Amino acid sequence: MERKVCILTSGGDAPGMNQCIMAFVRASLRLGLTPIGVYDGLKGLCEWRTRPLDREFTLGLARRGGTVLGTARYEGFLDASVRHRCAEHLKAEGVEAVVMLGGDGTQQAARELDKEGIRTYLIPSSIDNDVPGSEFSLGFFTAVSTVVEAIDRIRDTMESHNRLFAVQTMGRNCPDLALYAGVASGADLVLTQANLPTYEEILARVKALKETGQRSCLIVMSEHLLDGQRLISNLSRDTGWESRLDILGHTQRGGSPSPQDRILAQVFGAEAAERCYHREASGSLGIRAESVVNSPFDVDNIRGLAPRSTKLVLEAERKAR
Ligand code: F6P
Repeated sequence: MERKVCILTSGGDAPGMNQCIMAFVRASLRLGLTPIGVYDGLKGLCEWRTRPLDREFTLGLARRGGTVLGTARYEGFLDASVRHRCAEHLKAEGVEAVVMLGGDGTQQAARELDKEGIRTYLIPSSIDNDVPGSEFSLGFFTAVSTVVEAIDRIRDTMESHNRLFAVQTMGRNCPDLALYAGVASGADLVLTQANLPTYEEILARVKALKETGQRSCLIVMSEHLLDGQRLISNLSRDTGWESRLDILGHTQRGGSPSPQDRILAQVFGAEAAERCYHREASGSLGIRAESVVNSPFDVDNIRGLAPRSTKLVLEAERKAR
């Protein structure tokens, strides 16, 4: 008897979703499952807009940004009767499990569908990096690279004109995108939900930098934090620094995924297929264990501590066979 497993992408698209679909389809086929692609996220699931997925469908997906299955932000799924109807339909179709790629909203949806008796697995996918249960979400590292690249370009013109720039990133209510990109690009100030000084404190910092003879100044800030235009206008007025605001926008969501996200996608996709195969309990996949440690130079001791990324890549390679 066919063992049908669905995969969908929901909420904001994230780089790496396509490779994850690829990995899921290939692993599912290897395990004898029947993978079904659902168009346009939860909306497509409720409307049962699907297609069977074969190996040919996966060709060329690794490098593509966005999601080839399409995605949507679907409010309808908040309605319990809609979810119930959807689950009943899935049961009638003989669907065993649904794998969802998405952020925290999708995680809630996966939990609700599980309560209706459909096994669900969430693969954390969001440039915001705000999905509980995982230190990193699919697409986050690519977005950080995209933002850093954009800031590097802004820095060229900022330094040429001796200006103050504030660059606003996406991230919804999560500080990570601004934080990682700000640190990576050597920003003078990174303003996030987790670190929001008063205007006077910001001004004091900017003035202090100017007094050191610094000719330009870079502030990186999260969205939904404060009025960026007002901030730079006030700083311009109070420091005499000519200022500009750059809101990066949707460019941060697009683009070919970074190798790091592709590997993560590969690991998550194959793992989800295995969970479906073994009929494991519903849940949210995740990556954990980031911390700085000090290892003694003792060779025997240190040899056993393989770099984590190596482990991840080895696992990805094994599961892609
Ligand atoms: O969740 C991803 C994200 O890109 C957020 O960073 C941003 O606030 C939001 O989506 C933008 O959503 P939309 O594409 O619907 O305007």
